[in-house]
Amino acid sequence: MNIYNICVLKILFFLSLSQANVIKQESDTCQQILGDELIREISSYGNVRDEIFRYVLEGEFKGKTYDELAKFVDKFGARPSGTEVLENSIDYMIELTRAEDINDIVTEELEVPHWTRGEERVTMLQPRVKNLSVLGLGRSVSTPPEGITAEVVIVTDFAELENSREEDIKGKIVIFDPVYTTYGETSVYRSQSATRASAKGAVASLVRSIAPFSIDSPHTGSQSYGQNVTQIPTAAITLEDADLIRRIINRGEKVILKIEMSSSYDTKISRNTIVDLKGRENPDSLVIVSGHIDSWDVGQGAMDDGGGLFVSWAAPVILKRLNLQPRRTVRSIFWTAEEFGLIGAYAYEEKHRDENHNINFIMESDEGTFAPLGLAVAGNQEARCIIAEILKLFESINATTLVEDDSPGSDIAVITRTGIPGASLHNDNERYFWFHHTAGDTMNVEDERELDLGSAFWTTVAYIIADISVDIPR
Ligand SMILES: *[C@@H]1O[C@H](CO)[C@@H](O)[C@H](O)[C@H]1NC(C)=O
Ligand SMILES: *[C@@H]1O[C@H](CO)[C@@H](O)[C@H](O)[C@H]1NC(C)=O
Ligand SMILES: *[C@@H]1O[C@H](CO)[C@@H](O)[C@H](O)[C@H]1NC(C)=O
Ligand SMILES: [Zn+2]
Repeated sequence: MNIYNICVLKILFFLSLSQANVIKQESDTCQQILGDELIREISSYGNVRDEIFRYVLEGEFKGKTYDELAKFVDKFGARPSGTEVLENSIDYMIELTRAEDINDIVTEELEVPHWTRGEERVTMLQPRVKNLSVLGLGRSVSTPPEGITAEVVIVTDFAELENSREEDIKGKIVIFDPVYTTYGETSVYRSQSATRASAKGAVASLVRSIAPFSIDSPHTGSQSYGQNVTQIPTAAITLEDADLIRRIINRGEKVILKIEMSSSYDTKISRNTIVDLKGRENPDSLVIVSGHIDSWDVGQGAMDDGGGLFVSWAAPVILKRLNLQPRRTVRSIFWTAEEFGLIGAYAYEEKHRDENHNINFIMESDEGTFAPLGLAVAGNQEARCIIAEILKLFESINATTLVEDDSPGSDIAVITRTGIPGASLHNDNERYFWFHHTAGDTMNVEDERELDLGSAFWTTVAYIIADISVDIPR
């Protein structure tokens, strides 16, 4: 239990750091740092880019990322950590990759959380009877069988809770209705609200879903209990219901809810999957592309993170099919158990810590695979100049933007925080958090053309970084 708490705290830390800001690379500075020869070398990859783009956008691979993703998510649906479905989906990805005649595949086992949602019902009893749409949060404990019936206290933020008198919170259900700003800022109200409310004597906590938009859709997600608090049931309610209750209470009326929830928790063994397209000159040096294969238990996990999984699967596959073997190895990783706190990534980092010098660059797509716009990059200035120069090759698809981000991605933050340069896919994902962790995360969110652009972009970037004469400096 402990390790998971630590993990979740670390994510929160990363998310709060990732207040990304777009920079316009000072082109003179970069020009000086890189020198004419390297700039010429990078621009010479226009031919490879054209070859990959033709194959993926117009040729044999056109529509394939979408088709394979659809086959996968339609077959398995949601793939929660610790389930047999997740393990079967991992086996399927291995077979799919072997069918491409890529056989450098290993899996690495680790222990993962296995939290199973049972019945969940939240009913407003006063001032009128109404059923609320609800999703319990990860690791939430059950209510007693008869449920918990109590009056509601609604607070906007932690400061308001801390300033409340303990007797006003004791025995109550606390609802948090933070104003959604960014996911990174607002998601602490999902991950910590049970602990904070319990410390003040609350009997359950609910959170207004961490989302900018809603059609009565609750958004689940991870949370963890602090060490010394009573573990109270906790769930997400919809923006609509949270706002309704807020209005009722602001009018001076009393709201009474009944919460009935059940769940179970244990641990199971799962696997990270590692696929290598070995480099021709320096196979020990790695350029990693990645996405996570697990998902929440609602929806299909098509967007989070089926899209990232499949563009990362596509990179070695496309290179293999085009017989493009770069100098360094292109490694594709399918992370397990991301949703419960980057569990697979922590295990990988620990297991491979002694060979971390071999990671030349690490990439992840876990914030949508809508139209690619560029990369969010962690690294020193020289590293960012090299990536910015590579991104100039993607003007025809408008994917030239470099966002400076000290903690890009989700899983890979575990690696980049050790000083290894890396990037996440910067994409046109304004609607990402509409669907995130909901029953609406299905194939309908995905677009065939955008996935083709994503695969073409991801593959070309990985190839160039894996093939250029210089390592990405740290
Ligand atoms: C609430 O849901 C229950 C089933 O869980 C149903 O029996 C009841 O009629 C619903 N109440 C309202 C007011 O819709
Ligand atoms: C929990 O309580 C124990 C024993 O009282 C104490 O040593 C520990 O520091 C507490 N942990 C937290 C996170 O407050
Ligand atoms: C790139 O952006 C321009 C200007 O906004 C637009 O006309 C063009 O269609 C875009 N190209 C792609 C491939 O999206
Ligand atoms: Zn994800």
